[in-house]
Amino acid sequence: MISVGFVGLGLIGARRFHIAQKMGCRIAFAIDPDPARWASLQVEGCHYASSIAELNTVEQGPVDAIFIAIPHDLAHSACRWALERKAHVLCEKPLGITLAEAGAIRSQSKAAGLHLCAGFNYRFLSGVAAMRDLLREGGLGDLHRVRICMAHGGRPGMEAEWKLQRKRAGGGALIDPGIHLVDLVRHLFGEPEVVDCDLRRRFWNVDVEDNCSLRLRIGSAEVTIDVSLTSWKNLFSIEAFGRDGLILLNGRGGNYGVQTVEYVNRWFWNGKDRRSLQDFGTPDMSFELETRAFLRKVLDGTPDSVLSTAEDGCEALRIVEAAYAAAVTRPAS
Ligand SMILES: NC(=O)c1ccc[n+]([C@@H]2O[C@H](COP(=O)([O-])OP(=O)(O)OC[C@H]3O[C@@H](n4cnc5c(N)ncnc54)[C@H](O)[C@@H]3O)[C@@H](O)[C@H]2O)c1
Repeated sequence: MISVGFVGLGLIGARRFHIAQKMGCRIAFAIDPDPARWASLQVEGCHYASSIAELNTVEQGPVDAIFIAIPHDLAHSACRWALERKAHVLCEKPLGITLAEAGAIRSQSKAAGLHLCAGFNYRFLSGVAAMRDLLREGGLGDLHRVRICMAHGGRPGMEAEWKLQRKRAGGGALIDPGIHLVDLVRHLFGEPEVVDCDLRRRFWNVDVEDNCSLRLRIGSAEVTIDVSLTSWKNLFSIEAFGRDGLILLNGRGGNYGVQTVEYVNRWFWNGKDRRSLQDFGTPDMSFELETRAFLRKVLDGTPDSVLSTAEDGCEALRIVEAAYAAAVTRPAS
């Protein structure tokens, strides 16, 4: 039986915990400074601790894998500790708050022969999988343009949370959730370079951007990524336009709405109509599929072309850093 440990039992850590439990993993330990987080996650044989230091005082057997889901500024040291314990690691994106941090743990994992996966679960969304298939089938022809939009409206009091503090999160909308979209661009379309980036703080009284418009280029194709934390409805869409057709992905399940993927071929009305429309409803299985793919890889080395690597985690951060360096930052408007 595969054995796992958890660092961070917040929104995402708890979600992965439930999945591991459902999969029948042995959960050896779970660390979170807030004991209230443990309350609904009581599992026999699991050692609960409020910090890594506290866990270290108790003799622990080896674990196969450790899941890390904590504020971004703590990710680097937690990954280092987990890799020193000879565990494979799935750390939620980003792999630290700088490329230097991510690069250091990538090197450590390589030297130790351990998997280090960045949690890029959007790759496992049903809509993204369908888009990936359509792209593989070549229905777009030469890529002209990609437009990605992600938005939500946060919640009252969000300005006090770590997610909107530069020191803790590493930035605002661009690094989170923007890094997911940067990763999807690389995953679906290829390696982009940064053209320009516009950052704004429109609503939240914080020291990071709550809106970001990023322009990238892949060869001659233009890619735009718009992220907003001040749209009062959750939105997620990817539109890809090519010489021979277009693909429109909408929604990502849950409160981002039904996932649909539509393909339209050029001048369908004037020849062979190859249009399609797929509807995946509201379930979001991405965390479950990613967790399973990661644990399969840990268990028997089963490769998975969708699962991200430490390299992917680093490349996404490299682009985010380049975008911050290129950014025009504007005050609240
Ligand atoms: N893929 C996605 O869709 C998605 C969505 C949200 C968050 N995330 C990522 O997941 C990670 C965690 O985000 P979250 O939403 O779960 O945050 P959260 O604030 O809900 O949870 C963070 C948890 O970490 C705990 N913590 C703080 N310091 C700790 C330490 N030293 N050791 C152990 N635990 C500690 C906190 O008590 C809290 O329970 C981040 O990397 C974030 O970017 C991913």
